Amino acid sequence: MKIAVAGTGYVGLVAGVCFAEKGHDVTCVDVDEKKVKMMEAGNSPIFEEGLEELMRKNNAAGRLHYTTDYAGAYRDKDAIFIGVGTPEQPDGSANLNYIATVSRQIAESVERDCLVVVKSTVPVGTNDKVEQFIHDFLTRDVKVEVASNPEFLAQGSAVYDTLHAARIIIGTESREAEALLKKIYEPFGLPIVSVNRRSAEMIKYASNDFLALKISYMNDIANLCELVGADIDAVAEGMSYDARIGANFLKAGIGYGGSCFPKDTKALKYLAKQYGYQLKTVEAAVDVNAMQKTRLYHKACKRMITFEGLKVAVLGLAFKPGTDDLREAPSLDNVKLLLENGAQITAYDPVAAGNFRKVYPDGAVGRGSISYADTPEETLEDANICFVFTEWEQIRSLPPETFKERMRIPLVYDGRNVFDVKGMKEAGIEYYSIGR
Ligand code: UDX
Repeated sequence: MKIAVAGTGYVGLVAGVCFAEKGHDVTCVDVDEKKVKMMEAGNSPIFEEGLEELMRKNNAAGRLHYTTDYAGAYRDKDAIFIGVGTPEQPDGSANLNYIATVSRQIAESVERDCLVVVKSTVPVGTNDKVEQFIHDFLTRDVKVEVASNPEFLAQGSAVYDTLHAARIIIGTESREAEALLKKIYEPFGLPIVSVNRRSAEMIKYASNDFLALKISYMNDIANLCELVGADIDAVAEGMSYDARIGANFLKAGIGYGGSCFPKDTKALKYLAKQYGYQLKTVEAAVDVNAMQKTRLYHKACKRMITFEGLKVAVLGLAFKPGTDDLREAPSLDNVKLLLENGAQITAYDPVAAGNFRKVYPDGAVGRGSISYADTPEETLEDANICFVFTEWEQIRSLPPETFKERMRIPLVYDGRNVFDVKGMKEAGIEYYSIGR
């Protein structure tokens, strides 16, 4: 099949590369010339395990191409996938400007019948509008249909998740569109759930928001555990044996971040409101998460008179391990508060430090300051207090003694429940975590 993919972010690029890996002829389209050159050379603009390897393999096989020339790319394809961003707007709604721009470009470029497949997460009903919009702007006598094919990959395991997805959701309004999408996905050998377009759009939001809800629920219970003297990790383990609950996404911490959960919960809340419905469960998940993100900082405030002039070690910056992404990362909220209160921060993250530097370059920030270390050990040197914001293996594997030996005061606030409470106590560390 001849496929074009619009947008080379996490969704678009990974989809394009995986389609090529499964034998399709793929052209990835992006507006950024520099990015296109980089990808042609086999270098990925995003950090994802196994991605560059597959890019190089399929570039060499001649199945994977990159271009800024959208008209040339969209002209003659069987299917055009849209994988551009739908960022959150100040009111919580999804910004569909990129989708609109690409839709118009497609309408003005296609020279043959084709299927446009929306992979980006879009509010229910958007696919109908995209189809109408494309029809309004078509310049040739061709048949263009729109289908929904939401993406469920998680960052850090995007390639694996795509090649081994639990299910492929396809939302179509005609037998032809359904058949074409099934043919595209046939080489993947994965279960395909075929529904109508609006249900497909809803499955994406309902799935993401359910997971966000699960996390907020566990964080809520964790906060209660602290008050009543229970241990959230033990509680989660006890719950996990019930197949109806499941063992995943029960980890309490400093809240969910990333490019999906924060945005998708707010977008569904907004959509419900538009229809005069209040989605109370999702609203609660959003509220709990907002509070949870800085709960650890506020816990530390109860112990400390001030952060002014104190050396604060920050371990982990990414919103989760395995990615350099900082979108909605709890570290951002906490570092902001610490700097506003005069902390002298030394931060460490094995891959996201570079991106964090773009937000906070080395040096003074207001009353505080920030610098970056190459190892967790260096970060801890002479520190008065340490915060853990991401559970990277490099952090998780630190022996408790390291905190004791390196820090001026062995005081640790762990937002990811990385360390064993008893082990830390035995090593002489004053240790606080979430819900334990
Ligand atoms: C998520 C969904 O998993 C994916 O299916 C969807 O397509 C996009 O959104 P992603 O944002 O990459 O993927 O990360 P995920 O691994 O789901 O974690 C999201 C956030 O939840 C992270 O901040 C993580 O730290 C947090 N989390 C996750 C918890 O706090 N507890 C958990 O038990 C699981």
